[in-house]
Amino acid sequence: MRKAFRSEMLSVARDPRDDPDAVRHEPDGLLVIDDGIVIARGDYADLSDGFAGVPTETLPGLIVPGFVDAHVHYPQMDSIASHGAQLLDWLDRHIFPAERAFADRAHADAVASAFLDELLRNGTTSALVFPTVHAHSVDALFEAALDRRMRIISGKILMDLGPEGLADTPETARTETEALIRRWQGRGRLGYAVTPRFALTSSDEQLRVAGDLVAAHPGVLMHTHLSENVHECAAVAARFSDARDYLDVYDRFGLVGDRSVFAHGVHLSDRACTRLAESGAGIAVCPSSNLFLGSGFFDFGQADAHGIRLGLGTDIGAGTSFSMLHTAGLAYQAALAREDALDPFRALYLATAGSARLLHIEDRVGSLEVGQEADFVVLDSAATPLLARRTRDASLAERLFALQILGDDRVILQTYILGHCAWDRAQGFARPAMETTR
Ligand code: GUN
Ligand code: ZN
Repeated sequence: MRKAFRSEMLSVARDPRDDPDAVRHEPDGLLVIDDGIVIARGDYADLSDGFAGVPTETLPGLIVPGFVDAHVHYPQMDSIASHGAQLLDWLDRHIFPAERAFADRAHADAVASAFLDELLRNGTTSALVFPTVHAHSVDALFEAALDRRMRIISGKILMDLGPEGLADTPETARTETEALIRRWQGRGRLGYAVTPRFALTSSDEQLRVAGDLVAAHPGVLMHTHLSENVHECAAVAARFSDARDYLDVYDRFGLVGDRSVFAHGVHLSDRACTRLAESGAGIAVCPSSNLFLGSGFFDFGQADAHGIRLGLGTDIGAGTSFSMLHTAGLAYQAALAREDALDPFRALYLATAGSARLLHIEDRVGSLEVGQEADFVVLDSAATPLLARRTRDASLAERLFALQILGDDRVILQTYILGHCAWDRAQGFARPAMETTR
């Protein structure tokens, strides 16, 4: 069915560092949609005559593409804000106990639903998600995503050196991952990622299995953590003393390629940066998590000097907010701590098309270009009295920056999935009326 939306619109399809024309802004735009796909977009004055018969809704805010969270853990949503420890202790004290509870499928179903609703409330329409080691934690997430028609990528965690109750084996890693790929890869808007937790929780044998899985399934992603925290880096260096650096551990098992997504990368050697860029692999930058766990500040200058692909992730539950706007604001502050100033349009790019590119879904979502799926958010730059004051008479760049520094879920007026309103600040959630593609 055809319909159209009239509103102010903004998107950034390419990295504005490389292409100053990447920013696209229509102060009074028209977005025309047919069966959930964008078929026209431009200035209202130019397009309205051509689509005169199409039912048109005027939306009261700034339309931007739905946010793409490039790294987040759904089982950790109820562990957010757990006090007092850096990464390795935090995992032992807070996270592994929470993940053990996912042995219960009903618990996984309940958390998966709450998690996806929280993404929608924050304007996030696509995400690359860590579940737990339990295969049914993937089923729970994907079934809830199908119900909401969201674009979600995930894959069972591989962790045969994990603690009691959370350890699989190289063999179950292989058979369960193969079965999950058969069940889910490419179904609806879903995608699969081979997901070794990090170097410390997999044996060499299991890392080899992960490499085999990636080689056997060229359509899937590889998703893991890399060089996040100094204590973790020291433990990796001690166990893999013959590796050139942390990235080299993954490289030796065939886990570094253009479909690899590494979360964090806070402490990278120049050699690792060169290798990341040459392989086409990308980094999901997670500034709120890096601050919360005392991991440090991501070095945008180093990554950009090497031309590494970047996206943004919340990394809930080490991350402290589901909001990709707030995460973009913290990315600015992390960059500034290393004497770099992140432009607000580039920050928006990283939170949308940049993350989509990392996840290899940039042809489908991230910039609201013709042919893309109509996942978008309506932002209210007067959502709080302070934002209203700060954005009154402000330029577009100032308004966008204020939304990133002061904004969060409160500025999300509406979230649209495939042209249907899935969340409305006044009305709440609406499930899609159309058939799901089960
Ligand atoms: N490294 C290994 N597992 C995790 C995790 O759950 N969260 C974060 N932030 N880092 C990790
Ligand atoms: Zn993580």
